[in-house]
Amino acid sequence: MSSYKVRKTPGDNKWFIHDRFGMFIHWGLYALPARHEWIKTREKISDEDYQRYFDYFDPDMFDPGEWAKAAKAAGMKYAVFTTKHHEGFCMFDTKYTDYKCTNTKAGRDLVREYVDAFRAQGLKIGFYYSLIDWHHPDFPIDSIHPMRSCPDAYELNKTRDMRRYAEYMRNQVRELLTNYGKIDILWFDFSYTSKKTLGDIADERINTGKGKDDWEAEELIALARSLQPGILIDNRTELEQDIWTPEQVEVKKWPTHSKTGELVPWEACHTFSGSWGYYRDEMTWKSPEMLLKLLIDCVSLGGNLLMNVGPTARGYMDKRAVEALNVYAEWMKYNSRSVYGCTMAEPEFKAPDGVRYTQSEDGKRLYAHLYNYPFKYLQLPGLAGKVKYAQFLHDASELIADRNAVKNLTHSGGEKHGSVDEDMLILRVPYIKPDVVIPVVELFLD
Ligand code: GLC
Repeated sequence: MSSYKVRKTPGDNKWFIHDRFGMFIHWGLYALPARHEWIKTREKISDEDYQRYFDYFDPDMFDPGEWAKAAKAAGMKYAVFTTKHHEGFCMFDTKYTDYKCTNTKAGRDLVREYVDAFRAQGLKIGFYYSLIDWHHPDFPIDSIHPMRSCPDAYELNKTRDMRRYAEYMRNQVRELLTNYGKIDILWFDFSYTSKKTLGDIADERINTGKGKDDWEAEELIALARSLQPGILIDNRTELEQDIWTPEQVEVKKWPTHSKTGELVPWEACHTFSGSWGYYRDEMTWKSPEMLLKLLIDCVSLGGNLLMNVGPTARGYMDKRAVEALNVYAEWMKYNSRSVYGCTMAEPEFKAPDGVRYTQSEDGKRLYAHLYNYPFKYLQLPGLAGKVKYAQFLHDASELIADRNAVKNLTHSGGEKHGSVDEDMLILRVPYIKPDVVIPVVELFLD
């Protein structure tokens, strides 16, 4: 069994730790301007000017079943869907505002259709809910608000009541956790200090951030848990809950609790390109290697990957997103055994350069992911005598250990080429890399 002691958290995270891989879906009115989900504040667009996206939102090609099948094929076991993003537009039929999808040409509850379609494919259901709301009349103007440059922002804030907005959030979270069956993840986003600003602030008095007290986070989370007892909640209300959420960074060590130093359950979230929402002209799309390494790196450090798709305003995932999902589908079809139910390798197993290890939770199988494909021999330090059998995972073709190789590695034409440690496991590998973006060697441990 894995020797790692992970911090206990309130929710039921066993399935989450096992499944490792989820789909993030950022979809809202921001898909129409198609240049980042923060467009409203980046370009300081007024409610009146932003209204055109509400008026023209018409996702006539929305087929959540297609999305769900693509996620399942990619090997994703859960999804997290934006029920409301910072723009404040609600993708569900809420009683508490008219600023919702059922009042657009969509004319239906898009969250309902997401839930039904993904549940039908056996995926766990997550809701992203933005704590930030750039449309709500009670949400105070602050350092990242679209109206931060208004000269009378401070005066306007006197008419805005954060307590009323916090109640609005509780009412909507109650709807989301009551009307859609079992919800497995609630993903709040995000708390910030006044240091996080986009500039152009008219009045220093509104150069503020918002955190747990503004959200009345304790009450909000207690409500969520009362409605969905096993639910997993992230840490972005500023209250630590079930999931630590590094974002758009390569995590280099298993995150630990800031006070106790315990290992924590964590999930990195990433995008295919530089934007969460659909961004037509954004070209920084990750290569197949980058996409797969992000997933393998997370699992090799005991974490999950939540990989994001930003569908178009017509309701379909564009070609680039489908191609990226196919990279996962192709690799996971043959190699998912090195992801599901796996975690960081035991401390005794130190991967050599160019290799990433994961290990099954039961400790019986070690997986060597070949980031750099070796010439002739795969040399795995410390494993000699510890491996019963070795094979490529994708085709279960045997890889033979070759102790005699030591001679070839240390002597050639009489010259000595340095020695090979006695505990080195040396496997003969084909000269030509198999047709797998990142080949995986499955090692059955003694
Ligand atoms: C950041 C972005 C937000 C996005 C989130 C996803 O908070 O501001 O737009 O939804 O990351 O983790």
